[in-house]
Amino acid sequence: MKYVITETLNHKGMELMQPGDTVFVAHDPDPKHYEEELRTADAFIVRAAPAGIVSREVMEAAPSLKVVGRTGVGFDSVDVQAAADLGIPVVITPGANNRSVAEHTLCMMLALSKNLIEAQLEAAKGNWGIRDAGKQFELYKKKCGIIGLGRVGRDVAALCRGIGMEVLAFDPFLTKEQIESCGCVYYEDYRELMKDSDVVTVHVPLSKETEDLITKRELALMKPTALLINNARGGIVNEADLIEALNAGTIAGAGLDVFVGEVIRPGNPLLTAKNLVFSPHSASATREAMENMAMLCVQGCQAVCEGKKWKYVAEPRVYEHPKWKDADWA
Ligand code: 8YV
Repeated sequence: MKYVITETLNHKGMELMQPGDTVFVAHDPDPKHYEEELRTADAFIVRAAPAGIVSREVMEAAPSLKVVGRTGVGFDSVDVQAAADLGIPVVITPGANNRSVAEHTLCMMLALSKNLIEAQLEAAKGNWGIRDAGKQFELYKKKCGIIGLGRVGRDVAALCRGIGMEVLAFDPFLTKEQIESCGCVYYEDYRELMKDSDVVTVHVPLSKETEDLITKRELALMKPTALLINNARGGIVNEADLIEALNAGTIAGAGLDVFVGEVIRPGNPLLTAKNLVFSPHSASATREAMENMAMLCVQGCQAVCEGKKWKYVAEPRVYEHPKWKDADWA
């Protein structure tokens, strides 16, 4: 098999590859760095990448491409419909990183509610008085509002209940009973949830329906003491509106692990927004999640390249494509 990979893959995944397999690592998700190699590739493994970068054209220009593998659960970087039209499964890795992303979300809630980053930076400059800025507060008995109660959202709910928070949840794909069975207060309107929450955290995929889910209008509904966390995908929260809300004190703080276009560069106005903590899309970059994602992704790619149907794919309808008519499940 020939693999093309956008970034280095965890060794646990590499170790599953067979003798004789070849691997081209592009070190960049931009097609200009790998389209030549992709022409002869069987499997294309995509780590973090901007939305839509693996387009129909990119896949059509790769005649022997049998599978696209995502080290993760989000697949906005791939034109999944085009892949399905071409009979190319897009392998994903559910369950591999939700714990890591949930812990990262709690980490941001704790860092913001304790004003940790600013306190460290100010104290380092000799401003010991930052301790009396009055920005710190307990999360105990506060309301955490979760938008999207999938694997990550449910892990966040459990962690927040663990520190004595009341958890509110909105998820259009779940019933009231399903949400309540996760120990959450059911909300059928996410804007109402945003009004009542002390912390709002987003755990939905990026799609036409969720782009700009949170704009100026929704931010204005939040308490001025409230925090907003987006560790899902850039663009679900409108970045310009968020900057304005932070600098105007409409909300008390925000935490971001994801950005429009994937990477933010020095000079981006987000970097100077008040009370923002951020990380470089590293929520799932833990040893455990990186190993799990790499292994599950390679196993899926191998099964598909052996002509077997793999369960964990972004669009199961790919198996309606004629090339999968007589295939067995892995
Ligand atoms: C990235 C993620 O894929 O699961 C997702 O959708 O965003 C992350 O897991 C991962 O960080 C890429 O290496």
